[in-house]
Amino acid sequence: MFQVPRVSADQLPSLLRRMPKAELHLHIEGTLEPELIFALARRNGVSLPYASVEELRQAYAFSNLQSFLDIYYAGASVLLREQDFYDMAMAYFERAAVDHIVHAELFFDPQTHTERGVPIASVIEGLHRACDDARSKLGVDATLILCFLRHLSEESAFATLEQALPYRHRFIGVGLDSSEVGNPPEKFARVFARCRELGLHRVAHAGEEGPPRYIWDALDLLGAERIDHGVQAVHDAALMQRLAAERIPLTVCPLSNVRLCVFPDLSQHNLPRLLEAGLVVTVNSDDPAYFGGYLNENFLQLFAATGMGAQEAYTLAANSFAASFVAPATRQAWVLELQGTFSDLAAA
Ligand code: HPA
Ligand code: ZN
Repeated sequence: MFQVPRVSADQLPSLLRRMPKAELHLHIEGTLEPELIFALARRNGVSLPYASVEELRQAYAFSNLQSFLDIYYAGASVLLREQDFYDMAMAYFERAAVDHIVHAELFFDPQTHTERGVPIASVIEGLHRACDDARSKLGVDATLILCFLRHLSEESAFATLEQALPYRHRFIGVGLDSSEVGNPPEKFARVFARCRELGLHRVAHAGEEGPPRYIWDALDLLGAERIDHGVQAVHDAALMQRLAAERIPLTVCPLSNVRLCVFPDLSQHNLPRLLEAGLVVTVNSDDPAYFGGYLNENFLQLFAATGMGAQEAYTLAANSFAASFVAPATRQAWVLELQGTFSDLAAA
């Protein structure tokens, strides 16, 4: 066991910024900044229902998940060509490098694009080219997870999987996102069973707004290896015990949860409670262009609001590697790098 050194309160922000970390819950379409939305709209001749960057930004006052999704899908309508997907992802990777993210597993929503006539090849190849360049130019390791939109049908999910299969080597797994309540995991049990046969990793959004039952079903009916959000698990003691015992990671997104009114403010967030219960909790940014901050901002604001310290910082960063879909040797190297950051700061 690594003994976490004592770190003074004024050193904590620097530690949070500098520690190497993985981001495991990030919708790449949610990294489109208003400036890039307008630039791409101009480049592609797409008209937007907002007059300016400022007017668009002012629309970012959400009351729940659906109110966000309506604007998020409107923003994504400017993405048409392979280069657009590349540019969006590279802009994220440049920010990720600044935040000392050494590994990112990116969600993408092909149906948001194929429904508008964009070839799935443009989506996947553009994102893949950016992942390649992130590694070679920025030292950020990155992989892709294809998400099915749960407000659409099982048939549409199967069709999307079929279209994506020629690019099977370009993504490591599948996820489930979009409007949760009323679209339970069971709707996608057969698609996920097929994905399992194909050797794909499986994750699912569950327990963001939806009940603990959706988390059970994501595990039992979808074979989910990680739960995205999962914060509603606290309402079910048996579920909490299972998540801890089976070490099923939760990818928690603090700023997202506040912006979408899951918690009134960060000081009320239940992440410290989930950690105390022994769950493999990670911190993530979800849709940072919409929710007021990238990954380090999530860490900084969460720690300032909750009073968590160096021990929790270490656990959360170590969890991000433990929960990632990478080879054990790679994970181990990052954990050693993490320990080095803590030791160096304590010695300084
Ligand atoms: N929840 C569900 N679907 C999403 C989210 C989210 O937080 N972000 C982008 N699509
Ligand atoms: Zn999400």
